[in-house]
Amino acid sequence: MKLTLSVIKADVGGYVGHSESHPDILAEAGHCLAKYTKSGMLIDYHITKCGDDVQLIMTHQLGVDCEKIHRLAWDTFVSCTEVAKKLKLYGAGQDLLSDAFSGNVKGLGPGVAEMEFEEREAEPIVIFMADKTSSGSWNMPLYKMFADPFNTIGLVIAPPMHNGFSFEVHDVKEHKKITFNTPEEIYDLLVFIGAPARYTIKSIYHKDTKEIAAVSSTQKLSLIAGRYVGKDDPVCVVRCQGKFPAVGEVLEPFAAPILVEGWMRGSHMGPLMPVSVKDSTPSRFDGPPRVIALGFQLANGKLVGPRDMFDDKAFNLARHQANEMADMMRRHGPFEPHRLPLDEMEYTTMPEVMKKLGKRFKKIE
Ligand code: F6R
Ligand code: MG
Ligand code: MG
Repeated sequence: MKLTLSVIKADVGGYVGHSESHPDILAEAGHCLAKYTKSGMLIDYHITKCGDDVQLIMTHQLGVDCEKIHRLAWDTFVSCTEVAKKLKLYGAGQDLLSDAFSGNVKGLGPGVAEMEFEEREAEPIVIFMADKTSSGSWNMPLYKMFADPFNTIGLVIAPPMHNGFSFEVHDVKEHKKITFNTPEEIYDLLVFIGAPARYTIKSIYHKDTKEIAAVSSTQKLSLIAGRYVGKDDPVCVVRCQGKFPAVGEVLEPFAAPILVEGWMRGSHMGPLMPVSVKDSTPSRFDGPPRVIALGFQLANGKLVGPRDMFDDKAFNLARHQANEMADMMRRHGPFEPHRLPLDEMEYTTMPEVMKKLGKRFKKIE
């Protein structure tokens, strides 16, 4: 059965501040998607949240970039925004950058990760969702899952994975894309994806069968809006087992927290902490950035699950380390590398300060 899995997310209002989604918003999203399931447009859905972002996880047979699906997601976010406005939640409707829907939510604010595939005999998937970070944050974890034998032993000892995977990388500033084959081109690939603010992994394919293995959202809110309107807070879908990495290989990169951009005011580096859905409540200094992982088995498009994959003691040490890294970064206060370099900060007072002080700068002889 050919199935489409669409994950579409938006921040339509935070509770309290940017720390969490209000239960009434999630309930409203549930009412909307139940209606579309009844009408037969969706096979199944699951609503969740990661911090202040509402996540619509949907299965259907209408393919990727389907106008009907994008419209229903948009309409759902508009209804949720109404609820957010009534409750006067913080930043109500902040990710809906346009007043009108025009065929596809890409470019209008919400983040989108969609894939179409033939549902296998058993189809385990893991959906990663992050808050207080940007779309390139999946680069290192995806590289580890699909190209690093120190993370994924299947690349070495599992015959269906031994030939490797292809990575489609997007240049988000120039709107260009390129595909790299691994393992043979890993050094070339790393030249680009090591700069995640500019180059992000959009999708990964099995090199022999060309089947889709993973897809991420690459929407960059600041580039869409031309100003700071909140962080991208990206999502990523990964198919697991068999010719793809095992569930444990897919989760393994998050056992060693890395530094990502997006903490406080979208202008700081901080550790990406793997947490349960319940604990995706960025609070300290509006963070630190969080990632959740929901696992499902698909059964003829039905989402069997979720299992809250990071709700596991095996990630306690990663959380502890992330807290220590957070302390280490906070120690730098307004200094780099905690604060992002000037041209990457989402907020800045530099133009005004320069205007005020410009004349006081004298040439150094
Ligand atoms: C939001 C975020 C927050 C805000 C901060 C200031 O994604 O990362 O850290 O940037 O709370 O928000 P405003 O400017 O709305 O007061
Ligand atoms: Mg917010
Ligand atoms: Mg958010």
